[in-house]
Amino acid sequence: MNVCRTTGLTVDQQERWPFLYSHLSSEIEIPSLDATDEQYIIEMDKEISRILKHIGDGKAKSRESLTRHLQGLLQRRFQRNAKVEAFGSSVTGLSLGTGDLDLCLSFKREQPKKVLRKVAGLLREEGMMDIQQIPRAKIPIVKFNDSRSGLEVDISIENRLAIYNSKMLKAYAQDNRVREFILMIKYWASRRGINTAYEGTLSSYAWTLMSIQHLQMTNPPVAPNRQSGNKPKIVEINGESYDISNDSSPFESENTQSLASLLISFFDRFATRWDWNEMVVSIRNGGPLNAEKKRWTHTGPLPLEVVTGQSKNRMEHIMPIEDPFDHNHDLSRIVKAEGAMTIQEEFMRALHLISEGKSWREICTPVMEIDEEPEDFFHDLRTQNIDSLKESLEEMKSEVSQVEEHIQSLVTERQNSKELLDLLRGTLQETRNVKSNRQSILAELRPLSMKVQELRQTRDGINDRIAIPTKRIRQEMVRMFNSLTAEVDVFNTQNLGKEKGDFSYFFELQAMYKASIESNEAHQEFIRLRREQNKEYKALKETNSKEEDVLNRLIEKNPELKGINLHPKTVKEFQENANALQKSINIQYSKKHELRREIGRIEAWIRIAASKGKQRPKRDSKPRTSRPRAPSVNINEVRERASTGGSFSLNELDALLSKGGLSGIESKEKSSPSNPSARRKSGRKKTSYRVDPRQGRKRGKKQSRK
Ligand code: CTP
Ligand code: MG
Repeated sequence: MNVCRTTGLTVDQQERWPFLYSHLSSEIEIPSLDATDEQYIIEMDKEISRILKHIGDGKAKSRESLTRHLQGLLQRRFQRNAKVEAFGSSVTGLSLGTGDLDLCLSFKREQPKKVLRKVAGLLREEGMMDIQQIPRAKIPIVKFNDSRSGLEVDISIENRLAIYNSKMLKAYAQDNRVREFILMIKYWASRRGINTAYEGTLSSYAWTLMSIQHLQMTNPPVAPNRQSGNKPKIVEINGESYDISNDSSPFESENTQSLASLLISFFDRFATRWDWNEMVVSIRNGGPLNAEKKRWTHTGPLPLEVVTGQSKNRMEHIMPIEDPFDHNHDLSRIVKAEGAMTIQEEFMRALHLISEGKSWREICTPVMEIDEEPEDFFHDLRTQNIDSLKESLEEMKSEVSQVEEHIQSLVTERQNSKELLDLLRGTLQETRNVKSNRQSILAELRPLSMKVQELRQTRDGINDRIAIPTKRIRQEMVRMFNSLTAEVDVFNTQNLGKEKGDFSYFFELQAMYKASIESNEAHQEFIRLRREQNKEYKALKETNSKEEDVLNRLIEKNPELKGINLHPKTVKEFQENANALQKSINIQYSKKHELRREIGRIEAWIRIAASKGKQRPKRDSKPRTSRPRAPSVNINEVRERASTGGSFSLNELDALLSKGGLSGIESKEKSSPSNPSARRKSGRKKTSYRVDPRQGRKRGKKQSRK
């Protein structure tokens, strides 16, 4: 393998990080941006304002309705104990329209156990895709994709600090220049593929903090420090206290720099002047903190040492960025060696391109492209007869209607199945309550019956032995006592034998009396417990009829429940059925999507062929052997225009489509080729040509970095 002696980088790595490599191997000098041409800044500002015009959260409505849907869903699942709040770019006003939807699930009372699994299960039931659980993170997260809107969603649990810091970012973003500056940095980082924390680069949030730090440090400052001089506002989260005070009052800046000039100074600062070994980005400080004082100096190997295999040790504080509320949290914790190299490469690249007078668009050229499309997008259509193409177009359109009908019926079926499922769950829950009530009555009744039995035996045992009632015994005892204690008649004395007999009869009476009292007491207790027992029996009977009542009531309201076996197993079966239906719905949706894409492609080709006139393939023309060339246009330039929704000619459209930039063809369905203004309008409306690195990654293979 060819490895550079100075840096240890392989050829592949040299190509991957060309600017950085040139610097590391001392081939080129770091350019200075001190004397950037004024005209260049003016041009760049114009470009930026054109880009900003087209940045909007086109999915804002989908985000809102999905948030509402999930709110309802989770509240129902957790019996109103749950609270769902949005945070991140959908609330801060810092959305490029391509970001994810960040939601926080918190609980008003105690957090249910295994909550992540429950949420994931619920999402599965809802037919969400690519559900991923990250349970061991400091903040547990469920990630998924909403199949309808295509939105990527992160639901994090008890992420309260994020709600507070989003509020503060919103306050920073209320100033238009600050908001637009952050958007441009996020735009650059997103298009250059360095804003993906889980892949080892920095999060959008970290880029936002760096942007704010830069604006706080300009002279005069463009952004204030919203955390200084406030009355502390302490919140406690998981036993830790945080000061979340945030001054959200408007800030009048005396700085008059334009966005372009601020962007240039941003690159100048972070590419060359910022010493990551000594400085910590800290917006709560309004400027860098000393890394040594904060004990955040870089430890472990350098990224270069890791990527060249010289060390496998862990790097700490590689680009220290302090969270404004959680001061122990370094946002560069997740940056991997390759990520750090790429970030440095991007800073170097931006610096060089600016110094060479390159446009902002070029600086932000997307790194990822969908490269699985054929070179010539219409290759299979060029040789086909237009009439037969029109025929297949009609067939496809009717197939789309059929698929739509199919989807509709599946959706209705699933809806019914889900309603029944909810009903079954509710019924089971209601009867479960009655059942558990019965269980507890039975649990009390069992020892009560035993006690009653015991008392009855005691009482009857005594009564069997003593036939005389207690009253009679007492009378007998009194009589005997009187007789035994009467004055002695000296003339009529009893004999000793009789006297002995009387005494023993008296003692016997005494014992009988005691037993008789015991029997009476047992009888009283027996009566009391029998009464209690009767009450319980009555309650038991009531629960039986209550269960019947509940069932009858439910069946009366929902006749569809009749005949269904009310058992947890049945619920499971219904659940599986609903899941299977959702899968079929998803399949039909993607079928519809494919069909519409193909319809768009054929329609575009028919229009192009019609406009080409002479070049139009003849009815029975033979297939061409060599691949026709795409019209000669500057594809990069067309792409740039398409990415911001600018207008372009049919030739350019052809070229764009032939290079794979085809999303949005559908929007041109109705525009007539002879009506360029309509074409322009539809082109402008649809801005989905923007290539998001994440989409690129999902849909196509990664291309090597440019
Ligand atoms: N957040 C955080 N700590 C992190 C990362 C993110 O507290 N380490 C919170 C912040 O409140 C941030 C939100 O999560 O606003 C969303 O982060 P992220 O998606 O990176 O930022 P967005 O501005 O939403 O970016 P995008 O538009 O690309 O989704
Ligand atoms: Mg986000």
